Amino acid sequence: MGKLIWPGSTQLAPLPAVLVGTGGNGFANNLITVAWVGIVCSDPAMLSISVRPERFSYKALVETKEFSVNVPLASQAASVDWCGVKSGRDVDKFAQQHLTALAGSQIEAPLVAECPLNLECKVKEIIHLGSHDMFLAEIVAVQVSGEFLTESGRLDLERCGGVLGYAHGHYFDLGKCIGHFGFSVRKKPGAKIRK
Ligand SMILES: Cc1cc2nc3c(=O)[nH]c(=O)nc-3n(C[C@H](O)[C@H](O)[C@H](O)COP(=O)(O)O)c2cc1C
Repeated sequence: MGKLIWPGSTQLAPLPAVLVGTGGNGFANNLITVAWVGIVCSDPAMLSISVRPERFSYKALVETKEFSVNVPLASQAASVDWCGVKSGRDVDKFAQQHLTALAGSQIEAPLVAECPLNLECKVKEIIHLGSHDMFLAEIVAVQVSGEFLTESGRLDLERCGGVLGYAHGHYFDLGKCIGHFGFSVRKKPGAKIRK
């Protein structure tokens, strides 16, 4: 079957689905699930999240200019979904999901202790795009749970189950590692070296 041509839309997948923590500076701790998230620069380390202005979290993001990005495991998908359908206007998401607010080292906004990887972010720029505003932020510190580190100190999220992926409205357990950066050009161990 040939290709169909669809109008431009947000079909890029898979994406991470993360818990963004807001709070501090007079704002109560809150969590918003965000899939419009991505790394945008290596040095300085930066990422972006895009959030609709009508979200309860929006005001805290704009006024505190800080947030945490908490990377969940596939086993935490139900909490991620729940925090993406309930509003901090009505519920305390940390309490209802039995999640622990962890103090940041550089930001007032809370981190999620149960997530293996927590990125502390400071907003550098807010760009109005249309439905969403994009928060460009510097990752000023990273917290990682010790049980996800290998003996050599490398981060290995597979140690405690699969990473959570989000594609076209569905959650996936990205459980199987099938290669590492550059593996396609590396020589296999034991392969004969041509002189
Ligand atoms: C998987 C998933 C991804 C989402 N991604 C975004 C997003 O990128 N930006 C956004 O503004 N809302 C997104 N949402 C919706 C918000 O998480 C949702 O409206 C939430 O209830 C807002 O919480 P708040 O009112 O406490 O801020 C997503 C929801 C789900 C379930």
